[in-house]
Amino acid sequence: MILIHTHDGRTIETAAAPEQPLEHIVFLTGLWAGVPLCAGLGRCGLCRVRFISSAPKPAAEEMKKLSEAALESGWRLACLHPAEPCEIELPEPVRASRKATRDIPHTERFSLAIDLGTTTLQWSALSGAEVIAEGGELNPQNGLGGEVMSRLAHSLRPGGAETLRRLVSERIRSLTLDLERGTGGRCEALCVSGNSVMTYLLLGLDGSTLAAAPYRLSYQGGDERTIAKGIPRAYIPPLLAVRRG
Ligand code: FES
Repeated sequence: MILIHTHDGRTIETAAAPEQPLEHIVFLTGLWAGVPLCAGLGRCGLCRVRFISSAPKPAAEEMKKLSEAALESGWRLACLHPAEPCEIELPEPVRASRKATRDIPHTERFSLAIDLGTTTLQWSALSGAEVIAEGGELNPQNGLGGEVMSRLAHSLRPGGAETLRRLVSERIRSLTLDLERGTGGRCEALCVSGNSVMTYLLLGLDGSTLAAAPYRLSYQGGDERTIAKGIPRAYIPPLLAVRRG
């Protein structure tokens, strides 16, 4: 069992999973939603946690990031240690802000275009050809891998692909419903464009063919897919691939 004490006095229990980094497990509780973690690279320092007892031996990267006094008091970077049973304390999370148009005009119907990047999710709502609202935020999967290969590696763990799919599909659903409330209208068309890995993760497709040479696409895009209940099916533009031979 992992016991997490938050900066605002809550205590959360979650299961240990030593095959994963502690940072993943804390991220999956939702406590680090919106925190721009580098997810395992040991660079951002935003996954700092304090072990209440039995702090693990510090890794070389931690010696550079954390002061001797901090290490001595039990502070560690959660991405550099396995999620073994422990009791930890979290400082107040440093979240990136979501940017979005404030005053959204009323419209009966709109379409929504989403650029699903590995790091960020950028979106524009359009009435006809006119952009009526736009915004950007972190990709909600960011804590489970900072770049495509580590995100893909997470998808190949048991349950990993479903977790990644759920995180991003739920965010697209809530964004669409928020815009429907904001405009007073209905989203009638949705387009989600991403690189091959982000698209596979969004659609819950088997990414193993993208994880190793010859990196073949088993899905080429160019059709409509269901992402979540209560929102329109999404058009997925054709995926780019190098044609060989
Ligand atoms: S240092 Fe960035 S997630 Fe750990």
